[in-house]
Amino acid sequence: MKNIVVLVSGGGTNLQALIDAQNSGEIKNGRISCVISSNPDAYAIKRAEKNSIPVRIIPRKEYSDSVTYSKAILEALREEKADLIVLAGFMTILDECVTREYDYRIINVHPSLIPSFCGEGFYGLRVHRAVLEYGVKVSGATIHFVNEKADAGAIILQDTVKVEKEDTPESLQKKIMENVEWKILPKAVSLFCQDRIEIVDGKAYIKQGD
Ligand code: GAR
Repeated sequence: MKNIVVLVSGGGTNLQALIDAQNSGEIKNGRISCVISSNPDAYAIKRAEKNSIPVRIIPRKEYSDSVTYSKAILEALREEKADLIVLAGFMTILDECVTREYDYRIINVHPSLIPSFCGEGFYGLRVHRAVLEYGVKVSGATIHFVNEKADAGAIILQDTVKVEKEDTPESLQKKIMENVEWKILPKAVSLFCQDRIEIVDGKAYIKQGD
């Protein structure tokens, strides 16, 4: 059974999708062993507590820079014996000290079709605003491994929604969360826990199940 540590900063609807998937048995060979929040006021904390999942609060504000913050996160991950780290709306970029130690063991959910509308500065509603400004006709979400470059690690799963003329950043965000993020994140986590993601030449492929 793999220890899944989920890092959050906000509302935690993706964490909720993982908790629901765990409760319904969709996540095979893994369990959420700890939730770490960078924000002491994140609603995600309440979601974890309601489900008796241990929570650690490591406030980003208490650290002067990303390196010292990442070292604190690294220490917590070691103590929790994390096998898989899931960034579920975690709004801090982790330093190399974490990404190197957990190579191909950190996954992130990003609310666009990478390599579009991603990288530093693209997070939350900003992504959907940029999508609407550009006028693309499909958008979606991506689950990918995390490496030292923002949103640049191997892609595990993606799925799409149509962008309609009437969409606002808020409506597009909601549509992508409900139809894509909350489905493909638990799926990717379960695949990882079953050792069904293989890496060939830096790219991720799904192995067929039994
Ligand atoms: C989600 O849409 C997630 O994809 C996005 O923030 C939201 C968090 O919602 N993440 C990023 O933009 C990371 N670059 P949640 O807290 O309700 O899961």
